[in-house]
Amino acid sequence: MTDIIFLVLLFAHIGTVVLWMGASILYVSVLGPSIATLAPSTRADLMKAIGKRYEGYILRNATIAIAAGLILYGYITQVATTLAPSNSGMPWILIGILSGIVAYIIGIAVVMRSNRKLMNMMNQAGSGPPPAEMGMVQKRLMMGAGLQALFLFVALLCMVVGANM
Ligand code: HEM
Repeated sequence: MTDIIFLVLLFAHIGTVVLWMGASILYVSVLGPSIATLAPSTRADLMKAIGKRYEGYILRNATIAIAAGLILYGYITQVATTLAPSNSGMPWILIGILSGIVAYIIGIAVVMRSNRKLMNMMNQAGSGPPPAEMGMVQKRLMMGAGLQALFLFVALLCMVVGANM
């Protein structure tokens, strides 16, 4: 019989994972490099317009994805154990979980922090020249976003392999 709880958790997990990963890759591949080419004042306007909303969108989806994933893991290993991955699939799932958690931590500790710092600097700079430190923070932001996308990609591959072995 179809396990409704499993399906709901899996849909919540995969649905939010797709939104999180999509937004993260869009930033690394299109938004970030494009924003870097803008004049400082245009960049500041754009960051003010999308920065907070974009950050909230990623954080919300990432948090639901991780929470649903952890509940799903608890459910298939403790309650509906017939749905648990095979013995050979479990290590893949665990590597996927680790990569997902690392991606989440990078998102908060590096990407979000750099983004906030950048917005503060832009607000303080006003119409004057951008502070010298700004370039470094921007580089850190891009590097963090790239690393996050990489760990998400590894997590995705491990989850799919682990669940189907
Ligand atoms: C703490 C983090 C995570 C936990 C605890 C977790 C847990 C799980 C669990 C228990 C499953 C079900 C496996 C099965 O059906 O046997 C699953 C499936 C899946 N997860 Fe995760 N996950 C996490 C992060 C991620 C991330 C970051 C991604 C993608 C970037 C991801 C993508 C997927 C996909 C695509 C599936 C479906 C696989 C399939 O049925 O082929 N998960 N996850």
